[in-house]
Amino acid sequence: MKKKILLMGRSGSGKTSMRALVFSAYKAADTARLGQTVDVEHSHVRFLGNLVLNLWDCGGQQAYMSNYIDSKRHTVFTAVGVLIYVFDLVGEDSEEWDKDVRSYKDCLSALQTNSPDAHVFCLLHKMDLVEASRRRSVYASRVEELQKKSEGTTIHCFATSIWDETIYKAWSRIIHTLIPNVSDLERHLSLFARTNSAAEVVVFERSTFLVISRSTAKNLLSPNGGTENKGPVEYTSSDEDNDELLGFPPSSDKESSSQLSPGRFGKISQMVKSLRLVCSKLQSHFQAIEIQGATFAAYLDVLTPNTYIMVVTTDPRIELGAIKLNVHLARDQFE
Ligand code: GTP
Repeated sequence: MKKKILLMGRSGSGKTSMRALVFSAYKAADTARLGQTVDVEHSHVRFLGNLVLNLWDCGGQQAYMSNYIDSKRHTVFTAVGVLIYVFDLVGEDSEEWDKDVRSYKDCLSALQTNSPDAHVFCLLHKMDLVEASRRRSVYASRVEELQKKSEGTTIHCFATSIWDETIYKAWSRIIHTLIPNVSDLERHLSLFARTNSAAEVVVFERSTFLVISRSTAKNLLSPNGGTENKGPVEYTSSDEDNDELLGFPPSSDKESSSQLSPGRFGKISQMVKSLRLVCSKLQSHFQAIEIQGATFAAYLDVLTPNTYIMVVTTDPRIELGAIKLNVHLARDQFE
């Protein structure tokens, strides 16, 4: 199954940088040496067995943009699964922003005719360059404007930067929309989490380490640990939008909305990718990680040929050996 993803936005907005970070294990600092994209750069990424992402990184110089809208309209905008439009917040210049919005509207209109079912994601990118105290308001006003200009098309917006975990979260969400039968996977995962009395179970895609699905004990997502609820543990796969993760300073009433770090998956991804790189330099094969902390234990291992699973427990009575055995026994179920 092939899914076409269009990555569009003005020249220098950061399209190739985010692609390099997510799919080629680049570090943010290394993106400064990337050159401008000439016309469209195609790449195919095998993702989860038979799902192939057909990524179109569309160079953003004006001449190319005009070409996509005019002579190449049909070729570019047909059979699209996802449009990711990257808005550059650098300087927040209103003239550049207005120009960007006009280009976005042209792309959206071409998409509505040629791929009416495509999902649309707008990334308000380089949020790190906006003063921290203004991020929330800049984001809110830009999203409001984009929603108005999108005229009936449902759009999903993210504040992103290559310098923190926001880019990782946005891409995990985007990829999530493309995975077939994701609700079955979520059901299996929550059963697995309950069986292991786990605090959290996460399935990652093997090469990018993007989160495909997760199941988190709901009590860990509340500030006091949900101690008032003594019933069976409930699990959730839903992802709360978290100010801290979006790069906004937390508002006082949300300050401690969760006991879990909102950027934990992005950090795990970076850590495992670096570890894998070191292993390959030593001509050694990376297979699994066991961590025994003072208050928790974690186990990360291969689940299927294209995925890893991570199981986190906070109950000291649970042996890591039992978790390992359960991961081994669950493999057939997840194949
Ligand atoms: P074209 O290929 O011309 O369409 O440009 P592009 O959209 O692919 O831009 P590219 O990825 O080449 O990035 C341009 C510059 O922006 C690079 O120097 C990146 O390091 C920088 N950049 C990308 N993302 C971010 C970000 O989140 N924050 C900051 N501060 N800089 C970024």
